[in-house]
Amino acid sequence: MKKILLVGCGKMGGALLDGWLDFGVLPSNIFVIDPMSVRHSEWSHVRMSTNITTLPKEFHPDVIVLAVKPQIIDDIASLYAQFDNAVFLTIVAGKSLSYFARVLGNEISIIRAMTNIPASVRRGITVAISNDSVTETQKESCNDLLKAVGDIVWIENEVLMDAVTAISGSGPAYIFLLAESLIIAGEAFGLPKKLVTHLVRKTVIGTGELLNQSHESLHQLRHSVTSPGGTTFAALQVLMKQDGFTSLMIEAVTVAIKRSRELAN
Ligand SMILES: NC(=O)c1ccc[n+]([C@@H]2O[C@H](COP(=O)([O-])OP(=O)(O)OC[C@H]3O[C@@H](n4cnc5c(N)ncnc54)[C@H](OP(=O)(O)O)[C@@H]3O)[C@@H](O)[C@H]2O)c1
Repeated sequence: MKKILLVGCGKMGGALLDGWLDFGVLPSNIFVIDPMSVRHSEWSHVRMSTNITTLPKEFHPDVIVLAVKPQIIDDIASLYAQFDNAVFLTIVAGKSLSYFARVLGNEISIIRAMTNIPASVRRGITVAISNDSVTETQKESCNDLLKAVGDIVWIENEVLMDAVTAISGSGPAYIFLLAESLIIAGEAFGLPKKLVTHLVRKTVIGTGELLNQSHESLHQLRHSVTSPGGTTFAALQVLMKQDGFTSLMIEAVTVAIKRSRELAN
């Protein structure tokens, strides 16, 4: 069984940890480093520490998962360069394979992945890319760890990662905002907050499940609920005007991509 060192146990690291434990990874094969490890009472059966110096001598990690914020990776990445037989699996937004090769060493095996927050309910979507040093066995191990929290797609062109980050990494926040906006609109027309919140949550959940089960395209699904001249049609005329929803979304994704590129350095 592979030994996993998880660095950073916040929202994403915690989601991964839960997924691995559900998937059957033994707690004894996991060690977590997080500065506030004492707060994580729900994982009391997993060994945790606030820093690398207390990692037991006999614990030789096969996979090191980096799940800290991009803003602090510069300060900590080099601490892990000593584990040069391990594969590094990084989910840190914006930080490239060449960044990690520079900090950890050119021969180090590195997999860069972009996952998203539905991973916390095992419905994440992860896009991953490996460098030339990664062996098939290391790739399989990381594939298993990522599959424990949802689906995974492997790509070969790292340039796509900034756009992936802006679409699926940040995407759940856009959907939440859409739902929040719909609630505000409902309240503006007299629907009580509790009722409209319930309606919107169920609408998003139900639509997601329909999408999950349907073989129709998004376009077909939208058309199937839009009668010409009806209420939905009227609303879509506004959302689909030239400077409407799609152009706003393109603008939002553009700045997210720009930010991802800024974080790379
Ligand atoms: N959240 C998302 O939707 C999402 C989606 C895609 C990718 N990501 C990527 O996932 C990574 C983690 O994001 P997150 O949302 O999980 O952030 P988060 O909730 O803030 O988790 C980061 C964790 O790292 C801990 N940490 C801070 N300094 C550390 C150190 N020196 N050693 C070990 N752990 C340390 C933090 O502890 P403290 O809180 O005490 O500082 C926190 O528990 C980011 O790089 C982000 O780009 C996130």
